[in-house]
Amino acid sequence: MIDVHKKVFKLDTKNTSYIFTLSPQGHPIHIHYGSRLPSADVEALRLKNNITLGSTVDYAPGYCLDSELLEYSGIGKGDYRHSPIECMLPDGSFTTDFVYEGHRVTQGAYENDCGLPFAMGGGETLTVWFRDTKFKSLRLFLNYTVFPECDVIARNAELHNGENGEVAIRKFMSAMVDLPESDYTLLTLNGSWAKEAHIQDSPVSYGIHVNDSAVGASSNRHNPAFLLKKTGADELQGRVMGFNLLYSGNHYSAVEKTNQDTLRAMLGINPHCFLWKLGYGEKFVTPQAVMTFSEHGINGMAANFHDFVNHHIIPKHFRNVQRPVVLNNWEATFFDFNRRKILGMAKKAAELGVEMFVLDDGWFGKRNNDRAGLGDWVVNEKKLPSGLGALAKSINAMGLRFGLWFEPECVNPDSDLYRKHPDWAIQIPGREPSLGRNQLTLDLTRAEVRDYIVDSVDKVLRSANIEYVKWDYNRHISDAFGSTLQNQGEFFHRYILGLYDVLRRIFKEKYPHILLESCSSGGNRFDLGMLCFSPQVWTSDDTDAMERLDIQRGMYCFYPPSSISCHVSMCPNAQTLRNVPLSTRFNVAAFGVMGYELDFGELTPEERRQIKEQIEFYKTHRHTFQFGRFSRYFPKPGQRESWQMAGNGEILAAIYNLSYHAIPTRDTLRILEAKPGKIYRMKSVPQKLRINRFGGLIKHVVPIHLKADGLVLRFADRHFAMTDGQEDYTCSGETLRSGVNLAMQYSGTGYGKDLRITGDFGSSLYVVREEA
Ligand code: DGJ
Repeated sequence: MIDVHKKVFKLDTKNTSYIFTLSPQGHPIHIHYGSRLPSADVEALRLKNNITLGSTVDYAPGYCLDSELLEYSGIGKGDYRHSPIECMLPDGSFTTDFVYEGHRVTQGAYENDCGLPFAMGGGETLTVWFRDTKFKSLRLFLNYTVFPECDVIARNAELHNGENGEVAIRKFMSAMVDLPESDYTLLTLNGSWAKEAHIQDSPVSYGIHVNDSAVGASSNRHNPAFLLKKTGADELQGRVMGFNLLYSGNHYSAVEKTNQDTLRAMLGINPHCFLWKLGYGEKFVTPQAVMTFSEHGINGMAANFHDFVNHHIIPKHFRNVQRPVVLNNWEATFFDFNRRKILGMAKKAAELGVEMFVLDDGWFGKRNNDRAGLGDWVVNEKKLPSGLGALAKSINAMGLRFGLWFEPECVNPDSDLYRKHPDWAIQIPGREPSLGRNQLTLDLTRAEVRDYIVDSVDKVLRSANIEYVKWDYNRHISDAFGSTLQNQGEFFHRYILGLYDVLRRIFKEKYPHILLESCSSGGNRFDLGMLCFSPQVWTSDDTDAMERLDIQRGMYCFYPPSSISCHVSMCPNAQTLRNVPLSTRFNVAAFGVMGYELDFGELTPEERRQIKEQIEFYKTHRHTFQFGRFSRYFPKPGQRESWQMAGNGEILAAIYNLSYHAIPTRDTLRILEAKPGKIYRMKSVPQKLRINRFGGLIKHVVPIHLKADGLVLRFADRHFAMTDGQEDYTCSGETLRSGVNLAMQYSGTGYGKDLRITGDFGSSLYVVREEA
């Protein structure tokens, strides 16, 4: 729904309008981004500039670029805000002044064969182009694709050089937005390895707030996605704008509160170490930026992005396709396994209902620890004497599918690959390269390196029935240098183009049916670029459920549960030594692509029984858990959090204890997506508690004296569990939305059969079904 009338461009989605126009001089003037408007009332909406302000520079009498809300800007003609483009022109100057030349509207999504992935299946695309006022054959193209159903607009920019001289690009953003007001809070996702996507709220203040990555990947430090929430907005209500980038490399976004109290935001490739030279007839295409707007708070904004990712980003083959329950052996074995051990684990997994066994790191080369073997993609016959084909067959015979781990972008110096091709690893001649996790990164800017990766992965994929690949990448780039590049300013971007080339050749062209799970030590490359190839991402190496609340909470702002891979692991947890009840570990992992990462053989018979029930439950509600409409809120900020998924006539609602105190406050749970006018039945999911959780207290509830660490209790703990109180309510959608008062939680004064016994790290899960 793109309407162009008298040089006013109006882009409508189901619930939003985006409007811009042209100044008489030909600059693109931003008019509106927000709720859908029936008409483009430019005069009413336009930011007024009736007087020129002191110490400003006029482009024309009474017309000052610094005071205008612009759609895209340049340097040197009076707009002193952060510029989206910085390039040295053939005359050595940095001043650019792009004015309107033409536009066109085409059906469908934006396409370009520059090697970047783009969102698929959009409604219409508007391209507006501008030429520089001095270098008239230097053209800037701005592309806008609307995705009406999910209220998303995708944008990118291109620079075409038709001049005889060279244009050196130092900075080139995909999109920029100027807004008339600046009372927003910026929400970004920050962290590190095993601590990804922690939400940070920063009030927009004077100056420039930068959210970027320079590690060569989109990074676990600062995810490319961010949102702006207007004063008063929260999870449930208020105006929120979300932004993200289809890019897996160094990204940059900046939010500026200007001296006139307006706001400028932009996002694109990070200018850090970036220099791209355009000769005559050459062009540069930026990655796509996407934006959405909702009046329904962060949940409304997130729902738009979730729909967008599920329908326009992830590969067609996996759209709306339920993801299998996997068992991954990593946290259970690390590098220490053999065929017998793997088959033993797989057998138990099959008995409990697992659908896919994923063999992680350590199956190839001389890989017994992380110091050797990376790069040598041939099976380690000491561990797996009959090879991968036979292993996959045995696993398939148990009724499980088989998946395999790779890390094709990296190499250990102690590997046959490195001994043969040391020059394939990224390093600067005459400078000792730095290692990360004992490995170097391969130079994906080189065609022969990419060919090696494609061929060696292909050979393995042909050798066995492999239906899932976990594609890992465990270090940041250092010593950046492309040994065949003339201009090292191209290195980081060419690396990412190289990665997309490899992924495209393997997973789009040859093996579109293989489910690819992108992993980069967990969420070091959780971005829309990777999601164009891999429907799901291993979210974090931190599998502690309480830590996962922080991590998944952040990811849900921008990425759908179907893309968030979550495993239930052993306790004490490998990262935190925390003991979290098995029920909570499941209740957190279930709000995503749920799997397990432990040795079922090390669990008690009672725990195995519970896991069997968990898997059955997950499969019954899997479509809702993976593809439903997600919402979250804090029933008691700092103490309780609730995640909910709605779809298929049901709502799955969890409430988690973030902290727990004696004489617990009562819990009221609002079911956010319950529909007024409908009747629902809300039932708690039965949960079990380990007997040994009660320790010495058990003597108060059993008639005979038992020692807390004695044989009897140890036996009882292995084979039995305490049950949680059950709740069952039938009520209207209105009541659910207003809030149900839940049963009390355990407190020191006793154990009653109706109590919810959750306590520290506890949680409850409810199934809310629409009655016929
Ligand atoms: C990092 C990943 O995040 C882990 O899940 C595991 O695959 C290891 N790498 C293996 O080296």
